[in-house]
Amino acid sequence: MIIVPIDNLREGMVLAKDVASTSATDYRTLLMRGTFLTTEMIAMLRARGIKSVNIVGDREAVMAETAHHQEMVEQAELIIEEELELPEEEPVAPAEPTPEEVKNQHIGHALNELNNIFDENHEVKELSQEAVQKVSHIADDIIADISNDATYLGNQMIALQNYDDYTYKHCLRVAMLATSVAANLGLSRADAKDVVTAALLHDIGKSSIDHDIIIKPSKLTESEFEEIKRHPYIGYNILKNSGEKTFSPNVLSGVLFHHEKYDGSGYPTGIKDKDIPLIGRIIAVCDVFDALTSNRPYRKPWSVAEAEEYILGASGSHFDFDITSAFLRAFNPYPVGTMVSLSDGRHGIVIETNQNVLRPTIRIQGENSGEEIDLSSDFRFLSVMVTGIYGGQYPKFAE
Ligand SMILES: [Fe+2]
Repeated sequence: MIIVPIDNLREGMVLAKDVASTSATDYRTLLMRGTFLTTEMIAMLRARGIKSVNIVGDREAVMAETAHHQEMVEQAELIIEEELELPEEEPVAPAEPTPEEVKNQHIGHALNELNNIFDENHEVKELSQEAVQKVSHIADDIIADISNDATYLGNQMIALQNYDDYTYKHCLRVAMLATSVAANLGLSRADAKDVVTAALLHDIGKSSIDHDIIIKPSKLTESEFEEIKRHPYIGYNILKNSGEKTFSPNVLSGVLFHHEKYDGSGYPTGIKDKDIPLIGRIIAVCDVFDALTSNRPYRKPWSVAEAEEYILGASGSHFDFDITSAFLRAFNPYPVGTMVSLSDGRHGIVIETNQNVLRPTIRIQGENSGEEIDLSSDFRFLSVMVTGIYGGQYPKFAE
């Protein structure tokens, strides 16, 4: 497999990897790996600003082929220029992208880069300095975008459902969630950078695990699960092999301990409580939340509220309560102003968010309009729950 610049692409070449859009409006996969390129497809990729793609094939053969074509194209261009004396096109200055477009370009760019770094077809032994730089830029972009826009996280988490490659999408979503949790925990920007870097790379060790086990839709056998359990340690070693001082000890331990549980029943080491390094405890929550709310071959996605109920319920056993509290503050499904339905059949508007964000204070609408209920402290309403957004389901990430 080689990376071929867009100008060297020729009809008949075969894509080695999916190509994702970097467009400001969607993140879909433009072409799937295994596609035989046509002239129209190449024109489409160029029009969408794709700079290079991964092509299956022997480097020499492809280079010889493209060199030959290049000669012919240059010759043809020369003739056209001489015969038609084409007027020179006035260069048009590209319009400045809006802040929204810049953020969306960051996402498309990050997904493409992660696709290149986590090569599903090859076992990753270490990260090149170039790959490390790219991860660092992605981390900087995520931190900047999230800290500049309060609505960014929620919007992107939902928008990313359109991108169909689970692995890279998962890494990026866990990184975004983890960044927001880091901000809610009051971490410094430098520490947040370690959090997001570890989150982006937390599952890189899976590149060494049999791919059939990774994508198996049914329950894993005991020996398959034992195999999966190796990935945190493999990931840790990949980062360690990537050069001394390339990653801080916090990033390394975040990757190594992201499957530990607060009660000591996790893996690979079974450490517990605050002995589990902070980044490992943060990624654990974000990882499970994203897995529950994603569409998997074997089950439908849970809603945000369902997944948050689960996470709250598993605080103290699977998760650290300090982290789940920060998580719920970071990703509140019912912010002030949201119209919600209640389990007693009524509906109302959220007028205040409480410490338990799943039990806000509501002003009832319709019958008994104006009544205010604090679901977190009013004992008359202990059994009443928010069941969703009024007038429609709360948007699930994928269907
Ligand atoms: Fe993992």
